[in-house]
Amino acid sequence: MQLPTLKGSRITIRRLKRSDCESIYVHIKDPRVLRYLPAVPNPYNRDDARTWIALTHRKARRDTAYHFGIEHNQEREIIGGMSFNEVNHHDLDGELGYWLAHRHWRKGYVSEALRLMLDFAFKELKLRRVYAFVAVSNRPSQALLEKHGFRREGTLRQSCRMKNRWHDEYLYALLRGEYQAPA
Ligand SMILES: CC(C)(COP(=O)(O)OP(=O)(O)OC[C@H]1O[C@@H](n2cnc3c(N)ncnc32)[C@H](O)[C@@H]1OP(=O)(O)O)[C@@H](O)C(=O)NCCC(=O)NCCS
Repeated sequence: MQLPTLKGSRITIRRLKRSDCESIYVHIKDPRVLRYLPAVPNPYNRDDARTWIALTHRKARRDTAYHFGIEHNQEREIIGGMSFNEVNHHDLDGELGYWLAHRHWRKGYVSEALRLMLDFAFKELKLRRVYAFVAVSNRPSQALLEKHGFRREGTLRQSCRMKNRWHDEYLYALLRGEYQAPA
């Protein structure tokens, strides 16, 4: 599908462009951001960003995943990412992922982005279930999901490898019927 542009008051969710490569590279390579992103190459280089952007376009064309950038409305720069990965059009579910540049943490940007993404998931994609895996030690991400109504469903033991160590993850999910659309 052609990825839509989802306009928020402070940020916009949009398709990534090749010219976003430098912003993605600069923000993701920060160890404070990379720390909880086991699927992202570590260390991260510019080629990783270039390859990633091309992959997001292929996946959207095949409707297997929808990866967006978070653009800061005033700075006009990509400052983060939001994804539905592993979208299953039979079971109507998808895996949520996100990250934000460290200098913008705790300003409510990912909350705003998440509301736009959940609206898109439940209303446009017609998903029934959105789920996320979060490292047991990633308390900020757990608090974010809980704030938006996600429920913790269980623990996946030693389910991800970060820095050559095995970590447990929590599985969180939100069902369409539990979702409260923004007023
Ligand atoms: C997790 C992350 C995306 C949060 O983004 P953010 O824009 O700072 O989050 P928000 O400002 O919207 O915060 C929403 C809620 O999340 C929780 N939260 C966010 N950061 C937190 C922190 N450092 N400590 C505790 N709770 C936190 C709070 O409940 C917060 O609500 P409040 O500010 O009203 O208390 C960001 O810290 C990040 O990119 N981390 C590294 C990558 C990552 O962990 N990705 C997720 C992998 S599962």
